[in-house]
Amino acid sequence: MVKINKHIEIVRCGNPRLSSMGLKSCNMIGKTLSRHYARVGTTTVNNEHDIALLVAKKPDLVFLGFKNMPTLSPYPTNTEESWIADHLDSHGINYTGSTKLAMMLDHNKDAAKQVICEAGLQTAPYFTARSGEYSNAGELPLPLPLFIKPPKEGGGIGIGDDSVVRNFAAYKRKVANIERDFGTPALAEQYLTGREFSVAILETPRSKELIAMPIELITEQNSRGDRILGQKVKSADTEHVIAVADKDIKDAIVTLAIDAFKILGARDYGRIDIRLDEQGIPHFLEANLIPGVAQHDFTSYFTSACWINQAMDYETMLLHIVELGLSRAVDIGEDLVERDMVPVTVSPSLETAFEPV
Ligand SMILES: Nc1ncnc2c1ncn2[C@@H]1O[C@H](COP(=O)(O)OP(=O)(O)O)[C@@H](O)[C@H]1O
Ligand SMILES: [Mg+2]
Repeated sequence: MVKINKHIEIVRCGNPRLSSMGLKSCNMIGKTLSRHYARVGTTTVNNEHDIALLVAKKPDLVFLGFKNMPTLSPYPTNTEESWIADHLDSHGINYTGSTKLAMMLDHNKDAAKQVICEAGLQTAPYFTARSGEYSNAGELPLPLPLFIKPPKEGGGIGIGDDSVVRNFAAYKRKVANIERDFGTPALAEQYLTGREFSVAILETPRSKELIAMPIELITEQNSRGDRILGQKVKSADTEHVIAVADKDIKDAIVTLAIDAFKILGARDYGRIDIRLDEQGIPHFLEANLIPGVAQHDFTSYFTSACWINQAMDYETMLLHIVELGLSRAVDIGEDLVERDMVPVTVSPSLETAFEPV
């Protein structure tokens, strides 16, 4: 078979907490794409020096597996983030997935919720929780039970059965644990008691149409009757992933996911997590704009969603994502001036989303 004469570099981060792509998945993507493209490499980034080496390779497309990492700084208190999209954009290197602004919303769940809320979409009411601010349950901005999680992690990190707090002592304990473990205040949300879904979204090359592929995620009930997709459940892989059969639910979650994807300014592909409240109304939980795309084994929700909804296999899914990136490069080549002059559509609330609270 004649291979397409392009250089694709698959890039992950060496820190597993920051990477959506494990080493095994990275190598598998490499092996699969090398059947179709003339030059395919893999890079693990641990610091900015590694990014400089990546840039020097000048690939036609970076297949991106992470968003950001802390900057190297002589000041230990400096918590600035280094965004891989920034480095690639500034060197004119094309990459799969969203640009920095949308990735910042993926990374900051409270900022994403603010944008979603201002657009009139449903997300659970929330507040930023800090130790010592309230002295009893009656003073809290929202009634118990609440769901407490770290605002900037992924993969269920910092989320467990203790995230559901039904009394003030449990609230104080979970907020203090998050401050201790992550060095940030906690995100406190209304506890959504209903079923859980995730909607994978994939653009169609050139047409910009979005294919929405919903799945339901079913977790075992814990001893308190809660179903929480925390770190323990995710790593044990005990949750069930099934197709969404109910047409009304399907329509409602697909509409919310597509609206959320657009309003967050996302590009190419992603996954929107959704949970129903007591009344069965879907609420936006968070966006995963670099979702894991490990091979079809039901551990990567994105890969499973493609298979369950479209019978799209792993190889076809990867080729589709690469095609999205490469078709953009062709656009840029043909139409550079015009594209440069048209600003990326950004919701007005994005400008305020990152202002310190
Ligand atoms: N407000 C909430 N109400 C009920 N469950 C929640 C809420 N927020 C999160 N969860 C549960 O915690 C899981 C992980 O939360 P999420 O914000 O998606 O973080 P992660 O980035 O770790 O996936 C969800 O899949 C869901 O099971
Ligand atoms: Mg999630």
